[in-house]
Amino acid sequence: MKDTKIIELLNEMTIDEKIGQMVQVAGDIFLSDNIDVSTGPLKNLELSNEMLYNVGSVLNIIGAERVRKVQDEYLSKNRLKIPLLFMDDIINGYKIAFPIPIAQGCSWNTEVIKTIARISAVESNIAGANVNFSPMVDLSRDARWGRVMESVGGEDPLLGAIYARATVEAYQGKDISKLGNVASCVKHIAAYGAVEGGRDYNTVDMSEREFRQYYLPAYKSAIEANAELIMTSFNILNGIPATVNKALIQNLIRKELNFKGLIISDYGAIEETIAHGVSKDEKEAALKAIEAGVDIDMMSKIYANFLKELCLENKEIENKVNESVLRILKLKNRLGLFENPYGNSDVKKEKIYLMNEQNLKKAKELTQETFVLLKNKNNILPFNKNKNIALIGPYIDNIAITGSWCMFSDKSKCTTILDAFKKKVDNEKLFYAKGSEILRQDEINSILKADGLPTINIKNESEEEERLIEEAKDIAKKSDVILLALGEHYKQSGEACSRSNISLPENQIRLINELNKLHIPMVMILFNGRPLQLNNIEDKLDGILEVWFPGTMGAEAITEMILGEVNPSGKLTMSFPQNVGQCPIYYNHYNTGRPHIDDLRYVSRYQDIPTESFYPFGFGLSYCNFKYKSLKLDKKEIKKNDIITATLEIENQSNNEGYEVIQLYIQDLYASVVRPVKELKEFKKVYFKPNETKIVEFKINVEMLKFWNENLHYKAEEGDFKVFIGSDSVNTLEDTFVYYD
Ligand code: NOJ
Repeated sequence: MKDTKIIELLNEMTIDEKIGQMVQVAGDIFLSDNIDVSTGPLKNLELSNEMLYNVGSVLNIIGAERVRKVQDEYLSKNRLKIPLLFMDDIINGYKIAFPIPIAQGCSWNTEVIKTIARISAVESNIAGANVNFSPMVDLSRDARWGRVMESVGGEDPLLGAIYARATVEAYQGKDISKLGNVASCVKHIAAYGAVEGGRDYNTVDMSEREFRQYYLPAYKSAIEANAELIMTSFNILNGIPATVNKALIQNLIRKELNFKGLIISDYGAIEETIAHGVSKDEKEAALKAIEAGVDIDMMSKIYANFLKELCLENKEIENKVNESVLRILKLKNRLGLFENPYGNSDVKKEKIYLMNEQNLKKAKELTQETFVLLKNKNNILPFNKNKNIALIGPYIDNIAITGSWCMFSDKSKCTTILDAFKKKVDNEKLFYAKGSEILRQDEINSILKADGLPTINIKNESEEEERLIEEAKDIAKKSDVILLALGEHYKQSGEACSRSNISLPENQIRLINELNKLHIPMVMILFNGRPLQLNNIEDKLDGILEVWFPGTMGAEAITEMILGEVNPSGKLTMSFPQNVGQCPIYYNHYNTGRPHIDDLRYVSRYQDIPTESFYPFGFGLSYCNFKYKSLKLDKKEIKKNDIITATLEIENQSNNEGYEVIQLYIQDLYASVVRPVKELKEFKKVYFKPNETKIVEFKINVEMLKFWNENLHYKAEEGDFKVFIGSDSVNTLEDTFVYYD
C-alpha cells in the first residue's frame, strides 16, 4: 500500500480505533471459548469488547493455523479491516530449540549467531510471526540475575554490539515482508542487566559515563542495524522507570540515536509506574508513557482506557497518538499485511521446513560451538570408547534442556545423553544411574507455587535420595570413568529467577561428594543458565564441560564432544565468581587506588576469597594445547589515522585439530577519567591443523582508544597504552605503545 493510502486510512480512523492500535494483548483470547473480555481470560485488563477488536497486535500466538484463525476472527469484527500484528518471544528458536543466548555468545562466532537467527526467523515467519522479541542485549555482570541466560553478549559491550547487529540483520533481511524475515524488537532499553542485587525488576542508578561506555553500545548497534522495534525495560533508570523516562526515550533514543521505529513497553510496565510511585493513577501513567513516546502498551489497561480522555483534553496528546498510529500502520505496511493479513504463514511450508533434517544437523554443529571446556585435568577428555563409562545424574536421561524461554519447541527430536551414548559405544560398557533429582521437592514446590501450579506431595525424600546415591555408587564401581550430567533446573534461570545461592543444588553436591570417595575420575557436564559458583566442587572433578541449556540437539552434540569427535572451542562471555559474594564481577572493571597485592591488609580485596574470578571472561579450553609467543608491534607510536600491526605466533602443540579464539584487549594507562583495566577490542576464531603454528595479525587503530572523557565527549586521549593478546582476559602476552594526537 502506498504511504498516501496509509495517511488516508489514519484519517478515516476514530479515536478508539487509533488507540486500539496502540494496545497489545495476549492473542489466545481470540481462540478462547470465552471471548467476552468482562468475564474471559483478559478480565484484568478491563477492556471493552469493542476495544478488543481494535487492538493492533497480539503476543505469543504462533503456528500458521492458529495465526490464521485469530486473524480471521479479528478481521471479521474490525471495521476498517486493519490486520493484527503477531509478535512472539522467539528467544532461542521456534520449533528447533537452539542453545540459550548466553551460550550462543560463547561461540565467539557471528556466523553461529546469524545462522541461529536465520533459521529461527524462517521457522517462526512461516508459522505466522511478524515480530520477534529478540535480541536481548542487556549487558550482564551479575550471575544472581536469572536473565543473564538471555544475554547474548554477556558482560562485554563489544561482543554485545557485534551480536546485536548480527541478530537484527539476520532476522530482518533486506525486506521484512519477504518470506523468512521477521521484524526485530531489541530489548530491554535500558540497563536492565544492572538491577541492584541481581533482583529482577529492581532499581538501576548509574552515571551517564558508565551507561554510555558499557550498556549503550549493544542497543546502539541494534538501532544502527535498523531494528524495527525497541522494548523498554521494567527497571527504574536514574529515578524514573525506563518506560516513562523522557531523557532515555526522547533525548537519547529518538533524538540522539535517531530511532524511527516503534517503541513498545514491556508486559504491564506502563501500569507498573503506579507501583513505582511516579504515576498517581492510571490516567497519569498513560500521560507519562505517551509523553515519553511509548507507541504500544503491552498487556495493561492503561492506553486502552485512559488515552482517549487525554486526547480530548489536549491536542498535543492527540498528535502524539497520530504519530504512534502512523508508525504502527507503516510497520504493518512494510510487512505487507494490508495485502496479505496472514503474512507468510503457511501450513504446507510448515510441514516441509519446520524441524527439517538439514537444519537439525546444522543445529548440532552450531550447538557444539557454544560449549566451553572449563577443566580437563590430565586430558581426561575426550573419553576412550573402550572404557567402562558410568553415566550418572538427573540430566543423563532427560530432555528438559531447552531453557525456560523455548516455549514452542518441538521436543520430539530431542534425545537424551543416555540414548546418544547407547548409539555410539558398546552398551555392555555403559552403566546408568540417575544419582539424584535436579532439585529437592521443597525447592521445586516453591517454584511451582509461585507459578500458580499444583505442588508435589513430599514423601520419604531422604530415603529416596540415599537410594539414588547408593545405586549410583554401585554402577560407578564397575566403571573406569564417571560422566556426571548435573545443573540447574530450567526454571531456575530466565525471567523472575533471581537467586542468592548460585551453587549447584545441595542434593547434587552430595552426590558429587559421595562419588568422590570412590576415587574414580569424574567429569561433569554442566546445564545452567548463569555462571554458577563451582569452588565447592571443582577440586572433586577432573573435567567440566559447560553446555548451558543446549536445546534440541544438545545430547547428541555433547556425546560427540565427550567422545572426541569434535573439539570444544567456546569461551566464556561472563566471569564465573569464586562465590556469590563477588557478584557483580566482570573483567573490564576499574582499578582502585589500592589494587590487590597478596598478603597485604589495606588493599581492595576479600579476606576470605581471592579477588579475581574463578573462571575469567574469555576463558575456555580445547583438546588442542595452544602456546602463545612472540608478540610484536610494528611500531610503538600511533597518531590519528595510523594503524599499529600486532603479530604473534600461536602453536598448536597437539595432534588434534581445532579452533582457538584469540582475544585482543587494550588498557589506557592514564586519562582524564579512570579507565578499565582491560577492554576487549578485537577477536579472531582461527582454525589450526594438528601441530600447526600460525602467525596471527591484529590491527590497532585510534577508534579502539576512544572513550567518554571528562566532558562526556567520545575521544581518544594522548598517552600510554597497553595491549594484551591472549587466550582469555587473564592469560595474555603484552606490550605497550604511545598515542600522540
Ligand atoms: C516480559 C519480558 O521481560 C520480555 O522479555 C518479553 O518479551 C515479554 N514479557 C513478552 O513475553
